[in-house]
Amino acid sequence: MILPIYVYGHPVLRSANADVTPDYPGLQELIENMKETMYYTQGIGIAAPQVGVNARIVYIDVDPLAEDFPELKDCRMVLINPEITVDESAPEVTREEGCLSVPGIHENVQRHEKIHIHWLDENFREHDEDIEGYLSRVIQHECDHLDKTLFIDRISPIRKQLIRGKLNNMVKGKVSCNYRCKFAPHNRKR
Ligand code: NI
Repeated sequence: MILPIYVYGHPVLRSANADVTPDYPGLQELIENMKETMYYTQGIGIAAPQVGVNARIVYIDVDPLAEDFPELKDCRMVLINPEITVDESAPEVTREEGCLSVPGIHENVQRHEKIHIHWLDENFREHDEDIEGYLSRVIQHECDHLDKTLFIDRISPIRKQLIRGKLNNMVKGKVSCNYRCKFAPHNRKR
């Protein structure tokens, strides 16, 4: 089932996300719905709070980027309760990012190039990996969602000032988007 995307201004994106246990009700269905929603909206990553669920689940499929980054071919991951450690000794890299929850805005974000990540997959098997490059960026962006952080929280104050008007409109539901959105509750009308 394709779910609506919760948009900047909605409190669910700024609420704490709980760890997930194998008995989490409807877990496999939620993961399937997240996948379906992400493919429909043409994202490369999605976190549960973006579909209104405050749980520590991320789905990533960076295969569409394989033309530019061959190492991303067939790279799909379900991350449950991911824990990231950034490699502080590695350089930081700046690249443009966007987010399904912040439609129409793309800004440069500086991030660590290398991370170590520990996570559980959808069968609750443990994984441990060092990841670098573009995938590390996507993982950091998605795991930020689990910590109530959006990429626009990481841009320069000047850029933030420049998009302030667009963000204010987004809170009021004034944004055009080709998928179904949920806006801040006090502004249900478009
Ligand atoms: Ni995002």
